[in-house]
Amino acid sequence: MLKTGFIGAGKTGTALAISLSRKRWPVAAVYSRSLSSAQTLAKMVPDCLICHTAQQLVDAVDLVFITTPDDAIARVCGEVHWRDGQSVVHCSGAHSTDLLEEARKAGATVGSFHPLQTFASADRAMENLPGSTFALEAQEPLSSTLKQLTVLLRGSFVELKPGDKALYHAAAVLSCNYLVTLVKLALDLWKDFGVSPRDATRALLPLLAGTVNNIGSIGLPGCLTGPVARGDLDTIERHLKALKAEDASLNRIYRELGLQTIPIALAKGGVDRQKADEMKALLGDCEDTPASNYKGGPATRGEDD
Ligand SMILES: NC(=O)c1ccc[n+]([C@@H]2O[C@H](COP(=O)([O-])OP(=O)(O)OC[C@H]3O[C@@H](n4cnc5c(N)ncnc54)[C@H](OP(=O)(O)O)[C@@H]3O)[C@@H](O)[C@H]2O)c1
Repeated sequence: MLKTGFIGAGKTGTALAISLSRKRWPVAAVYSRSLSSAQTLAKMVPDCLICHTAQQLVDAVDLVFITTPDDAIARVCGEVHWRDGQSVVHCSGAHSTDLLEEARKAGATVGSFHPLQTFASADRAMENLPGSTFALEAQEPLSSTLKQLTVLLRGSFVELKPGDKALYHAAAVLSCNYLVTLVKLALDLWKDFGVSPRDATRALLPLLAGTVNNIGSIGLPGCLTGPVARGDLDTIERHLKALKAEDASLNRIYRELGLQTIPIALAKGGVDRQKADEMKALLGDCEDTPASNYKGGPATRGEDD
């Protein structure tokens, strides 16, 4: 087991350090920009040395996690002297191990270890970590060590090649961050009929939870419900009219997502090709003509399934 230290005692560093330490992994040192963050982490990890410089930490351990924000990783890595054979890892989902080039040049083994999870706080992060998938980028022997850590954290892993990270992270943003954006747009609509965001959130949460459950238990495409899954043109048209009166950009977002939903509906088998083409024409009609002018017709836009 490699003696391990963390540079950056924020949400991710703190959650990983405490979780690993609870599994008896030797988390031996922490350094953070502010002493108070390092102290908070160290309080929860037995025998954890609080370092006063990044170099002190790098000198004290064999495996270094740089858990600073993404834009500080390369700088932090470039400001210290690495030992030959030492291991250094960052937790960014968007960046490859290129950020650790200075350590690699000095003979260190470099890797990335991205928890595919959302960490709103260190406590929440510890709760959410078990069951998460970790995206790994590393060569042996570091690769085996990182896989061992995913087992300790009760997670699983996917191995990425250099160059995979941008699409991998864009997928995470679509399914996590932009889900938040969609909920915000929905809450804004609820304001129109006089329900506060707080009450609307409470009302929408069971729907969101049910959707996530169905994705897990039934999977795509079977979990899709709603007007596109049923080929319900009248309902879609009513939505488009209402949204257009509300906000043109919301109308565009609804159309684009609807178009992306049609192939799922086709794959599920709830609509035939003719109905799919009618929905494509209705949703793809981005002209400023009223949606009620829709007369059906061939597909004008969108993915062919
Ligand atoms: N949050 C997520 O949902 C999530 C999920 C997966 C992966 N990640 C990745 O995890 C990494 C950390 O993200 P986070 O959300 O945990 O960030 P965070 O909560 O903002 O924590 C970053 C920590 O780094 C410290 N820091 C900043 N600059 C530093 C420097 N130059 N030297 C030493 N320490 C420094 C901060 O300082 P103080 O000492 O001032 O507190 C802070 O404690 C990122 O690479 C991110 O992409 C985040």
